[in-house]
Amino acid sequence: MQEQFISIKNEVLAQIFSAQSIDELENIKTIYFGKNGNLTKLLKEIPKLPKESKPLVGKIANDVICAINNAFEEKKLLLSKSVNTKSEWFDITLPGIKPKIGHLHLITQAISEITKIFESIGFNRVSYPEVEWDWYAFESLNMPKNHPARDEWETFFIENLKNTKYGIGVLTPHTSSGQVREMERVKTPPIRMLNIAKCYRRQSDISHAPMFYQFEGLVIERGINITHLKGTLDYFAREYFGPKRKTRIRPFHFQFTEPSFEIDITCDNCSGKGCRLCKEGWLELGGAGMVHPSVLKNGKIDPEIYTGFAFGWGVERVLMMKSGLKLPDLRMLYTNDLRFLEQF
Ligand code: FA5
Repeated sequence: MQEQFISIKNEVLAQIFSAQSIDELENIKTIYFGKNGNLTKLLKEIPKLPKESKPLVGKIANDVICAINNAFEEKKLLLSKSVNTKSEWFDITLPGIKPKIGHLHLITQAISEITKIFESIGFNRVSYPEVEWDWYAFESLNMPKNHPARDEWETFFIENLKNTKYGIGVLTPHTSSGQVREMERVKTPPIRMLNIAKCYRRQSDISHAPMFYQFEGLVIERGINITHLKGTLDYFAREYFGPKRKTRIRPFHFQFTEPSFEIDITCDNCSGKGCRLCKEGWLELGGAGMVHPSVLKNGKIDPEIYTGFAFGWGVERVLMMKSGLKLPDLRMLYTNDLRFLEQF
């Protein structure tokens, strides 16, 4: 009797498989499970079997019924789906749903724009470590240990990272740490470096982020003087901010440049007349100056032969000054809030 059950199972499954409609499927069911169905007849024989073979045959019969029922249900579902699809009307001329297209982050856009401007006048983009040594971030830039000038850079020091030659590890607080590294890499000027990188400071308020970007320029050649610095920064300001904005250089102090300056640009809000956003028509862009002779010496470059200039500005700040982006908080650039980012 086991063989009979197995052969009926194979027969029914083959018919279910080739059924083309739900009616056909129901018909198959009646043939096998109806009052006088083939399977029903066989099931009626089980009670007549000898006692010892009943459990085994009963189990086989049960498995066969389960397998057939499952196959019925699956096929029914399949056939009902295809009926629905056939009845659905599909207009291929309807316009599709456009996928959402993202864009580069505002800071990434600003970095590529700044890079293009400087590359067009011969600067080379470089990249130096974000986890830096004290030597490159401070000592080689005339800021020995315990010098009060270091305070300005509110640095994250990494206590467990130490090097006998270069001192303690730091998260670089400014891109000026690339100056001596570039001198060591190039060895013999000319040098025209553009170093754009993340910087870290223990600062967080509406105009300061703990992680921000700076772009640093360094030019070293024979006969470089302040006019080259002024000309380069004027060129950048015209290209980036547009021809109407003017820049000025104002005396300042940095340990690693002599003389040192801050560069200002005319305020976009009042066109240089003076308003509550600016200092009498001017906004501060960032620092600059002529490379200090002892910094050149630390980079093994002879200050008797070569001179140079350097500047270091914040990417977030120039971006905000350009677009008139009146952000209530500079840190919004890094919160990744789509309601803000999707506006640009
Ligand atoms: C410096 O970091 C000098 N290394 C710049 C320099 C380079 C001077 C070469 C001379 C020669 P300062 O600390 O002022 O300077 O920072 C420069 C610019 O970085 C600032 O004007 C500002 O635009 C930006 N900046 C500084 N700290 C932050 C901060 N926490 N968040 C956002 N931007 C910042």
